[in-house]
Amino acid sequence: MTDKIIVQKDGGVGHIRLNQPEKLNAISYDMWQGMARAIDDFESDDAVRVIVLSGEGGRAFSAGADISQFEEQRGTADAVEVYNATMGRAYEKLAQVLKPTIAKIAGYCIGGGLATALCCDLRIASDDSSFAIPAAKLGLGYGYGALKPLVGLVGPANACEILFTARRFNASEAYHMGLINRVLSRDALDDYVDDYAETIAGNAPLTISASKQIIAEIGKDADERDLDLCQRVIDTCFGSEDYKEGRAAFMEKRKPNFQGR
Ligand code: COA
Repeated sequence: MTDKIIVQKDGGVGHIRLNQPEKLNAISYDMWQGMARAIDDFESDDAVRVIVLSGEGGRAFSAGADISQFEEQRGTADAVEVYNATMGRAYEKLAQVLKPTIAKIAGYCIGGGLATALCCDLRIASDDSSFAIPAAKLGLGYGYGALKPLVGLVGPANACEILFTARRFNASEAYHMGLINRVLSRDALDDYVDDYAETIAGNAPLTISASKQIIAEIGKDADERDLDLCQRVIDTCFGSEDYKEGRAAFMEKRKPNFQGR
C-alpha cells in the first residue's frame, strides 16, 4: 500500500485522499493501484454509503498523472500498455462502483486528475479551482474511455475547445459547461461536501445504486442497453426492507433508517 493514497472511513462516508502535495497530487503508478484497491474495499463494505475523493495540501485536487514517471514507465509501447491498463483499471473501478462518488475539487484539476474527477458521479469545486486537459501540450492521446464521459457532460463543442486549446478553464467556465455540479468559496467547500455526502449516505442505498445503474445504461448506445437489468434493480427496490422502512418512517414522521436491503 502506498502512503500517497489516504483511505479513511468516517460514518457512512469513505474518503480517498490523493496525497502527493509536493507534486500537486500528481498520480503515480502506485497511486493508481492504491485508488483501485481503496474502491474495492469501499465497494465490499456495507457501512460505506458514499465515496469522496479529494486532494491533500490545498493547492490541487490533482495535476494529473505523475509526468516524472513517464520516461521510465510510459516511454515505450509495451510500458505504455502496462501503465495505461493500471490507470484504466482505476478509472473503470471508480466509474463502475455501485456507490455514489463525489470529487471534491480545490485547486488544480488537470489531465488525469480531471479524468479521475470525470469518473465520479458528482463534482463540487472551490471557486479558485481550474481545469484543463493538456494532452495536446504533451503529445499524448486521450482514449474513447476518457473522452466519452467528458463529451457526455460538456458536449462535443466544449470538449473540442478543452482538447484543442489545452488551456486552463476557471471554475465559472467549468460550471457553465456542465463540467462541475456546484461552485463554492474555498471556506465553504469542506462543510458543504460533508453535509452533501452525509445526506446521500442517509438515503436509501438500493434506490441510489438503481438510479446510478439506470443512468449508466441510458448513457450507452441503444443496442447495448441492458433494460432487464434496469427492471431488476427497480424490482429490488420495491421488494426491499428499506422500501417498507421508508413508508413507515414517512407515516411516523421520523427519519428513515435504511439498511441497504
Ligand atoms: N507530474 C509530476 N509532477 C508535477 C505534475 C505532474 N503532472 N504537476 C506538477 N508537478 C510538480 C512540478 O514539477 C513542481 O515540482 P518541483 O517543485 O519539483 O519543480 C510541483 O509539482 C509544483 O508545480 P509548479 O509547476 O511549480 O506549480 P505551478 O502552480 O507553477 O503550476 C501547473 C501548476 C499545474 C500549471 C503545472 O504544474 C503543470 O502544468 N503541471 C503539469 C500538468 C499536466 O500536464 N498534467 C497532465 C499530465 S497527463
